[in-house]
Amino acid sequence: MIFEQISTGGCQSYLVGCSETYAGVLIDPAQQQFDHYLGLAAREGLRIHYVIDTHTHADHFSASRELGRKLDIPVVMHRLAPAPFADFRLADREILRVGNLRFEAHHTPGHTQDSMCLSIEDRVFTADTLLIGGTGRTDLPGGDASALFDSLFNIVLKLPAETKVFPAHDYKGHTSSTIGAEMESNPRLQKRERSPFVEMMEHLNLSAPTHLTEALRTNMSGGKTISQLLSAAAAQVPFVSMREVQECIAKDDPDFLLLDVREKDAYEAGHIPGAKHLPRGQLELRVNGDLPDPTRRILVVCELGLISTLAAATLRELGFLHATALDGGMKAWREGNLPTRQGSSP
Ligand SMILES: [Fe+2]
Repeated sequence: MIFEQISTGGCQSYLVGCSETYAGVLIDPAQQQFDHYLGLAAREGLRIHYVIDTHTHADHFSASRELGRKLDIPVVMHRLAPAPFADFRLADREILRVGNLRFEAHHTPGHTQDSMCLSIEDRVFTADTLLIGGTGRTDLPGGDASALFDSLFNIVLKLPAETKVFPAHDYKGHTSSTIGAEMESNPRLQKRERSPFVEMMEHLNLSAPTHLTEALRTNMSGGKTISQLLSAAAAQVPFVSMREVQECIAKDDPDFLLLDVREKDAYEAGHIPGAKHLPRGQLELRVNGDLPDPTRRILVVCELGLISTLAAATLRELGFLHATALDGGMKAWREGNLPTRQGSSP
């Protein structure tokens, strides 16, 4: 078996391949490592046949949908997964064959309703059902402490004691454990009766994961994250430095139009001298009247350089092929002690 564990913060992803056929799968990929996974698969000579999410993640952005599309392969999840892009759904005890490897799905609700663990040969991918020295939490949407009790004690922990455990998360630098070691020392597994276990799980008082709503929104729907939206826009837009802007202003370059897309109050509090005001929210409505020359070089300015990137990308789609954005926005401009003008006129 070809096996790579890839850690992103606390999130663990796995590239697993058949060493005879070089067919592989990717389990729980995270968006930040998109290129890394493809590089690793290429290095190992693997062709990825499936990308698998063990459950709907609430704490990181899954790369499954993009990888599925990019590689033209199915996204595998449990039958109960809400994600519309999961096009290959497994039920309890079904087996996914990949080359000569056989992954057996175990439906293990509790952390989420759609959680599944996958066992193969000497190991089990335990998702967020069983972690090293812990368990998945049950206080997020779809969580159920009593269901987690059943999933742990009646399914996962019934696997042979020597089975290697590979969880979807580890925040303490561990890479793997075994069922036997967890039974012996995992503090969450010491309450082996249902009610004390449920009582313990319901009183953990954990803080909510960062990006909870955005992760659930994108992982359940396949929609984009804000940073994906911004990087897709940034990929189409060149940026201009503050120095270049100063030179254009100094030359009084007639081909150069500064366009400030912030709200009125922010514009009036201080803008780059000469900058025309057109708020982002009115861009599409006013573009024909306010920007009649599509060949002009337009430099879009906002507060941080993010909204201007989206606005410049929109302008490019509308045919303003020389739309660019000011790198760092007005914040950087002010921090550079560069001149600003107050009031409503450019
Ligand atoms: Fe999770």
